[in-house]
Amino acid sequence: MEKTKGVLKNYNQEHLLDFYNKLNNEEKASLKKQIKSIDFQLIDNLFKKNNNIIKQQKEFKSMTSHETTDEYFDLGLQSIFRKEFALVTMAGGQGTRLGHNGPKGTYILGYGINKSLFELQCDKLKNIYKKTNIYIPWFIMTSIENNDLTIKFFEKNDYFNYPKEKITFFMQDQLPMLDINGKIIMSSKSNMKMGANGSGGVFSSLAKSNILKKMLSDNIKWIFIGGIDNILLPVDNPDLIGFAIKNNYKIVSKTITKKDPNEKVGVFGYLDDKPGVIEYIFMSDEMNNLKDEKNNLIYKDIHTLSNLFHISILEEAAKKELNYYPALKKTEYLNKNGDLIIPEIENAYKYETFIFDIFSYVDKIGLLKGKREEIFAPVKNKEGVDSPETAANLYNKIIK
Ligand code: UTP
Repeated sequence: MEKTKGVLKNYNQEHLLDFYNKLNNEEKASLKKQIKSIDFQLIDNLFKKNNNIIKQQKEFKSMTSHETTDEYFDLGLQSIFRKEFALVTMAGGQGTRLGHNGPKGTYILGYGINKSLFELQCDKLKNIYKKTNIYIPWFIMTSIENNDLTIKFFEKNDYFNYPKEKITFFMQDQLPMLDINGKIIMSSKSNMKMGANGSGGVFSSLAKSNILKKMLSDNIKWIFIGGIDNILLPVDNPDLIGFAIKNNYKIVSKTITKKDPNEKVGVFGYLDDKPGVIEYIFMSDEMNNLKDEKNNLIYKDIHTLSNLFHISILEEAAKKELNYYPALKKTEYLNKNGDLIIPEIENAYKYETFIFDIFSYVDKIGLLKGKREEIFAPVKNKEGVDSPETAANLYNKIIK
C-alpha cells in the first residue's frame, strides 16, 4: 500500500484513495487492481501533450479516388464465395453525443424502421447470405464498459436469427479519463472512470483476443472494419474487395464527396507523403476551396469509416503504437464529498487512437467512390445533423 501511495503522490493522483477507508474488502481489492493496471507515466505524458496536438504541422497533398466497376463487384463476390471475407464492427464507443442509455448498437431507430443499429448491420450480412448462401463471420468490438450489455442484447434478440457461432465479441483496451486539471476521474468511490482507447484500438485487440490467429487459420484474407453508427455501411457490396484484389492494394476505403467545401469532415490525403486522413481542424480555408482544372474540389474524399484491410496489414498493425489524441467529453464524476455529479458542459479528457493512423504504414491506399445517399447515414447526435431522424430518412429512401 505504501508503494501505491508513493506512485500516486508522484503523479499527483492521491485522490484515488480519498474514500479507500470507507470501502469494503472487495471494493478495496478492486480499486487496488485498477490502480495497478494504470500506466501513470503514459497518462501524465498524454495530459502534458494536450495542447500541443493542435500545433503539429504536416505537408498535405491530395489523393485520387476511383469509380467502381462491375469487374470489382464480381471479383469481390468470388472472394466471398472462397470464404475469405469477415466483418469487424467497432461498437466500443461511448456514444455520448447520442445520449442513449446503453451501448450505441442497442439504440432502436424509430421512424417506421424499429430496429436496433446492431440489427440493421446484421441485415447487411443477411443480404450477403441471400446472394451467396454464406454466413460471413462477424466480430464485434465492445468496451469493458458496454460488453455485458451488448452480449445480453444479442441473446435477448436471438442474435437476430444470424447463426450464433458466426458472431464473436471481443473487448478493446481502455484508459482512465482525466478532468481538466489532469486528475483521474472517479465514477464511484471504488472505480475510476475509464474510456475505450479509440478506433485505433481495434488492431491490438484483434490480436490479443486471438481473433487474428483464428482468421488466419480460417484462411480469411479481407476484413471490413466499420463503425456501428452508419446504418448504410456498405459491407454488403463486394466491389471494395475486388477493387483491392485487382489493384493490389492492402488497404482500401469507400469514400464519398464533400457536400460543400466547409463540411466538417476528415478527408483523405497524403500527410508528409504518407497516406492518411486530414482532420478538418487542420484544413485551411484555402485547402478547403482548392479546385482542379475541372473545377472539382481537390480535398473532397471523405473518410467514412468504411475500410477494408488485407489480413497481413492487421498482423502488422497490431504491433504498431498509434498516437493518442485528446477528446473533450461530458462525463459523470464523483466530487470531493463523494457525490456523483452530472456536468452540464464537457469536463473530461478521453484519449483515443484513430484507425486511419495505420494508413501511414503503407505506401498507398485505394479509394473507391460511393454514392453518399447509398452508403452514408450516420447516427451521431441526438437531433439535428447526423441524428436518428436524418439517418432514418436516408435509410427509408434507399431500402425498400
Ligand atoms: P465515434 O468517434 O463517433 O464515437 O465512433 P462514439 O464513442 O460512438 O460517440 P461519441 O463521440 O461519444 O458521441 C465511431 C465508431 O467507432 C466506434 C464507435 O462505437 C462507433 O461505431 N468506437 C469509437 C469504438 O468502437 N471504440 C472507441 O474507443 C471509439
